[in-house]
Amino acid sequence: MSPSTTPVTALSGNGKLVYGCDYNPEQWDREVWQEDVLLMRQAGVNLVAVNIFGWAELEGSPGTYSFERLDEILGLLHANGIAVNLGTGTSSTPAWLTTLHPEILPQSASGTRAWPGGRQAWCPSSPLYREHALRLVQEVARRYGGHPAVRLWHVSNELGCHNALCYCDVSAAAFRGWLIDRYGSLDALNKAWGTTFWSQRYSDWQQLLPPRVTVSTNNPMQVLDFHRFSSDELLGYYQSEAEVLRQHSSIPVTTNFMVAAHVRNQDYWSWAPHMDVIANDHYLDHRLDSPTMELAFAADTTRGLANGQPWLLMEHSTSAVNWQPRNIAKGPGEMLRNSLAHLARGADGLCFFQWRASVQGSEKFHSAMLPHSGTDSRIWREVVELGGILDKLAEVGGTTVQAEAALVFSWEAWWAYDQESHPSSDVRYLDQVHAIYKALWEAGITVDVVAPGADLSGYKLAVVPGLYLVREREAGVLAEYVRKGGHAVVTYFSGIVDENERVLAGGYPGAFRSLLGIRTEEFFPLAPGQALALDNGSAAALWTEALRLEGAEAKVCFVEGHLTGTAAVTRNRHGSGHAWYIGTALNPAALRDVVTEAAGGAGITGLASPEGLEAVVRAGTDNSYVFLINHSEEEHKYAVQGHELIVGEDVSSVVAVPAGAVRVVRTSRPLPQTTGRTTGPKDVESD
Ligand code: GAL
Ligand code: ZN
Repeated sequence: MSPSTTPVTALSGNGKLVYGCDYNPEQWDREVWQEDVLLMRQAGVNLVAVNIFGWAELEGSPGTYSFERLDEILGLLHANGIAVNLGTGTSSTPAWLTTLHPEILPQSASGTRAWPGGRQAWCPSSPLYREHALRLVQEVARRYGGHPAVRLWHVSNELGCHNALCYCDVSAAAFRGWLIDRYGSLDALNKAWGTTFWSQRYSDWQQLLPPRVTVSTNNPMQVLDFHRFSSDELLGYYQSEAEVLRQHSSIPVTTNFMVAAHVRNQDYWSWAPHMDVIANDHYLDHRLDSPTMELAFAADTTRGLANGQPWLLMEHSTSAVNWQPRNIAKGPGEMLRNSLAHLARGADGLCFFQWRASVQGSEKFHSAMLPHSGTDSRIWREVVELGGILDKLAEVGGTTVQAEAALVFSWEAWWAYDQESHPSSDVRYLDQVHAIYKALWEAGITVDVVAPGADLSGYKLAVVPGLYLVREREAGVLAEYVRKGGHAVVTYFSGIVDENERVLAGGYPGAFRSLLGIRTEEFFPLAPGQALALDNGSAAALWTEALRLEGAEAKVCFVEGHLTGTAAVTRNRHGSGHAWYIGTALNPAALRDVVTEAAGGAGITGLASPEGLEAVVRAGTDNSYVFLINHSEEEHKYAVQGHELIVGEDVSSVVAVPAGAVRVVRTSRPLPQTTGRTTGPKDVESD
């Protein structure tokens, strides 16, 4: 199966947008369950994930199963018209298993074995873990594979959230097997890894190990291949569960991804084709400058994984989480704005972790749909309100987001980019991705996030931030796209190495030199806090380079330091298109200027929304839906014609979006066609 072969709205049991949650009723007595389902119905909940951490409950001792409680819960949900997203229950091992087989526990790079007592403490390569887990999956699949309530299989939970990288001997052996498959011969491996340097040559496969703690730095290819291996290993585990499920059931199968700022261990481009539905978990991350921008980026990335089709938000939070240093609660209306931002960017369903706030255990201070304070609470009222809004927005289901720009994103490049011994440890892949995404987001330019090498022909603009590692073929796709009239923006520390971390010598950025019409001799990263004045009135930070023009024109130059007169930003005509290069970290305003100029040159003006008003368009065959999310504290007006769905009123020319509110306008007005995508209405009036 491929992504979204199952429409998300088919999971709700009533064809509507999905509204749901993780439900962990094991924590409560039966009377509470009765109240739970009543309140779920009141809120409009239609899909509930159960048995996510069910193993110890279901299999109290090896091979002894008790399903009565789960039977009852499924029965109760079904009787109340609530569909079930059924966990296979394997995410956390029961105590008996790790007592019996402590070798299942994962090991850190320094050799420390994790202890049980938390969750997900299993080695992804452990055959013992797999054997026990698949036995449970088989029991669950046999029993519930035809249950009328079950609409979706939820394999494990956030695979790799805590255990993505295991350095134990079992993993070492599996890594060796993976390397043998990849390289075939030790000669090929030695060549790819550059082991002639530092006396690292391998003469026997047995000598190969995961990149455990060394006294110096590890071989970069050992590190990169271990990331590739580890992502493949958990995907392989997913596939083994999915295979068991499919033997007993024809219900669609998925697992919840973690497309999020601080998670990078899964190459979801390789995972996505194996999912029947693309599902993501997302939590606002207050360690970032702009958590709301990052939400939009994660949602756009998830849509990319779903090939542009609708996807499911499997988890988010009604308010605070409990796992950040400071757990910032959501203000009034913020949960609704977050929810509808996901919907605007292609989600056809919104679920929360979790239904009822725990009173015990690690997550008791994590928000829920039903907070500790009960139904007489702002959170509960907003939860009920959101259920009502989703009802009104039902017709949006199945429509797709319209984007004119693409952003090339790569987990593999991220692994390579952020390694040690690079020019500057202040320069991080995701920061660079976020910086340029934010510039587009603020300019109201919706982007599709795509993999390196993806077809770009439907887009007017392609932005390529920090694509440090790139294959010849992938670089070729970008160059060909520009040659045929496309517009590209490439940012610094892109196109530096090939898939084997081998520098493309002869001047940077080797892979994109002729596309960009430049040649860089040397990098000059800046000291913390250092800034060099530029002739556009802004300043360069973090990164500079000695760049020579080889066909490109200088757009911005240094006016300070030894690079005075040297270009920091360039534009090159390549075939019938244009390729920009941004060779330094510009401040947000300057970056936005460059990006909007490049977008303008490409014929994109964006949904030009006033500051703080996020505008995104989803389009179906007959209608388009203009989502307007007002993050600001003042009312904004937006020029559009149609019918507003949340308040339920006709809009003749301008819709007012009150401070903090969201409006969704159905418009039958045909939207201008681009090569591959369409955009929404442009004219904007602000207060
Ligand atoms: C997710 C996880 C949930 C819950 C949630 C809290 O990572 O899947 O089980 O822990 O985080 O934010
Ligand atoms: Zn291991």
